[in-house]
Amino acid sequence: MNKGFLVTFEGGEGCGKSTQIKLFTEFLKKNKFRFVVSREPGGTPVCEEIRKVLLSSKSEITSKAEFLLFSSARAQHVAEVVKPSLEQGKVVILDRFYDSSFAYQGYAGNLEVKEIEEITKFAIDGCVPDLTIIFDISYEDGIKRKNADVNLKTLDRIESKGESYHNKVRAGYLQIAHDNPDRVVVLDATKTKEEIFEEVQDIFLERFNLKIQKIRKNLNEKIRNKNI
Ligand code: TYD
Repeated sequence: MNKGFLVTFEGGEGCGKSTQIKLFTEFLKKNKFRFVVSREPGGTPVCEEIRKVLLSSKSEITSKAEFLLFSSARAQHVAEVVKPSLEQGKVVILDRFYDSSFAYQGYAGNLEVKEIEEITKFAIDGCVPDLTIIFDISYEDGIKRKNADVNLKTLDRIESKGESYHNKVRAGYLQIAHDNPDRVVVLDATKTKEEIFEEVQDIFLERFNLKIQKIRKNLNEKIRNKNI
């Protein structure tokens, strides 16, 4: 078990992840946690190059090719940023991680979940999140929020995939939460940002303290076994 804490923020378009990540990092700073914040696809120079291809390509990309590009960026990001930071005992906050691939390329893009699982296992090298928060919002409400922020013309390749695709993304996220009740928490993203952040903070502190207790227990067991 690594000494760090990996928390991933997930959700559909316009779910308010970025605002919550900002509030969360301010909270960590104020409370003197050591942390890094990063995003997928991205987080390293090579991954940012792959991000450009994925989000701005004018050509069609098949679900398989799309998923492999996300996965190759993920493998690089894990090796360069996520794993070393966890080993140093830091809190690692990720704006999207492999659940995005399950929701977008799997449940919405029609790739087999089994195939995604195998390649993801290869890419993440054991870095499973300690906590994943899904910010749940309907496509309509998410797009409304996004339009209030930016001009519709700036939607990227994936954002422009239309309502039925994004409804499947949402359903996919809810399925992921249902299948991983110990790791994943779903929050109602239509509440106010203050209300949502209260919930984020409470869940994080509860899970973080649980992990600390587990690490201590493991350590005590190791010491006890050595004494025998
Ligand atoms: P980004 O601008 O970061 O979107 P957002 O602000 O909504 O997080 O773009 C990331 C896009 O890539 C987003 O539409 C989701 C998509 N994506 C996948 O389809 N699969 C993945 O594995 C990841 C990490 C992202």
